Amino acid sequence: MRQVKASGAQVRTPSLPTVLVVSLIAAFVLLGLQKAGYWGQPERVEPPPPTPAALAFRRAQAEAEAAQAAAARLAEVQQPAETIEVLPEGEGRDATFALCTACHSTAIIRRSRFSRERWDELLDWMTEVQGMAPLEGAAREEVLDYLARSFPPETAPGGGRRATNPFLND
Ligand code: HEC
Repeated sequence: MRQVKASGAQVRTPSLPTVLVVSLIAAFVLLGLQKAGYWGQPERVEPPPPTPAALAFRRAQAEAEAAQAAAARLAEVQQPAETIEVLPEGEGRDATFALCTACHSTAIIRRSRFSRERWDELLDWMTEVQGMAPLEGAAREEVLDYLARSFPPETAPGGGRRATNPFLND
């Protein structure tokens, strides 16, 4: 089929097979370019799911990290165990240290200043309220003597009890 243009030049209309082949080639080229990532999103490849062994490894790793963190936290707050030297020397120190540190540190004892009677009451309280094994006889006397001697009521230089009110001068 021939057409005659106004200018007189001849233009061939491409045949149907030619159009089909050219469109197919164009389509393949375009698809190839897209696959190569020239435009559009390249296809996402999902990683394969982890194997049970990999999961177990990750879990073990997380547990080890948690244990390490816990140990580090503990090391930060832990104090070295007390030794008997923290108590002032004197007869009955061994017995007192052994008996009293079963439940608490000696800090609570060392900060206290009581009369012998008050220490006596405190031992009863420790037994009745806190569950300390009853302390009787010579053993009780030994501990009481030690406590009363080592941690007596604080006295001011004049001999009277030290004022606990910091705003009072004595
Ligand atoms: C059976 C456990 C136990 C034993 C053993 C024990 N205590 Fe205690 N003690 C406690 C408890 C519990 C407290 C209360 C701590 C608190 O209130 O936080 C306490 C508190 C104290 C306090 C503080 C009381 C106050 O009101 O300020 C002193 C001082 C004390 N104990 C001295 C001793 C002495 C001295 C001994 C050894 C003769 C002793 N404890 C043995 C459990 C015990």
